[in-house]
Amino acid sequence: MIRSVLRGSGSALPKQAVSNAELAQRIDTSDEWIVERTGIRQRYIAGEGETTSSLATAAAEKALEAAGIAARDIDLIMLATATPDQTFPATATIVQHNLGCNGGIAFDVAAVCSGFLYALATADSLLRTGMASRALVIGAETFSRILDWEDRATCVLFGDGAGAFVLEAQEVEQDGPGVLVSRLHADGEHNELLYVDGGPSTTQTVGHLRMRGREVFRHAVVNLAEVLGETMDEAGIAADDIDWVVPHQANARILDATARKLGLPAEKVVVTVDRHANTSAASVPLAYDTAVQDGRIKPGDLVMFEAMGGGFTWGASLVRI
Ligand code: UT7
Repeated sequence: MIRSVLRGSGSALPKQAVSNAELAQRIDTSDEWIVERTGIRQRYIAGEGETTSSLATAAAEKALEAAGIAARDIDLIMLATATPDQTFPATATIVQHNLGCNGGIAFDVAAVCSGFLYALATADSLLRTGMASRALVIGAETFSRILDWEDRATCVLFGDGAGAFVLEAQEVEQDGPGVLVSRLHADGEHNELLYVDGGPSTTQTVGHLRMRGREVFRHAVVNLAEVLGETMDEAGIAADDIDWVVPHQANARILDATARKLGLPAEKVVVTVDRHANTSAASVPLAYDTAVQDGRIKPGDLVMFEAMGGGFTWGASLVRI
């Protein structure tokens, strides 16, 4: 059978890390509050000249190197972001040009924190149907540029970064590597719980992120447990079969609660929210690449990816590495 095989990953962070203590000098917050409520200790913030496309390009270059695949052999680039360089064209086309692989398919995916899961599932479909043969799937964000730095309830939670996967359509055996099952969902009813209060066709401004954190938290735990259950059922596996869960990194307490609901031991959950904070669409590939780099995730492992974010949107993918 044809599967989309994950050939390599890469990630990139802005140069500047900002600790909770540094934020506490500028706004009415404290290291204790942020660590206790979220698990976040620091975040990376893009400086002058660092953009969503520059971070995405750096992550993509590392992923191509890890995969041993040349940029000219990529015929699909899908970039998940809610903070594009420009309203149009798609940031994916800027990355394509930076990499020098013009001519294939390139477009952005807007599903906020679930964007990478949406991009991964869509790229998998395009690869399996033969529309493309080698894909770069990227999550990249500069959320620091849409934060209201006067709103302590949101500005301490987010950071900037990028992560990328190289996927290749390959003929594999039933127990071989590749994307096994993906499930995606959206429910537009809850727009007012997590949104940006601007946009080209409404205010003609970029706007700022607004969130009712407590309500989002409740929906996240329920929706994630549901989609993880669906994905495991469809794949015919139990929680015990999973080697690693690589979740969207919004809040350490959400990661704990979701793992507990599924009966998954905390040691199997990759946690990077302490270092990266919430990097929206970048958080899943950034966390995955971190766990590959430090030797935790290895070829043959069964990895569950999951995310939930604005929309609401949520999803999960089960991948054999
Ligand atoms: O990525 C997309 C998905 N996003 C999420 O999944 C986020 C989900 N939500 C969360 O992670 C949590 O709800 C937060 C971390 C956002 C907030 O934690 P919480 O335990 O739900 O706190 P809260 O919003 O209920 O606020 C508790 C208190 C409030 O004070 P009062 O009203 O109890 O006196 C806030 O004013 O904490 C106060 N507070 C802060 N204090 C110090 C809010 N932000 C801060 C802050 N520093 N930065």
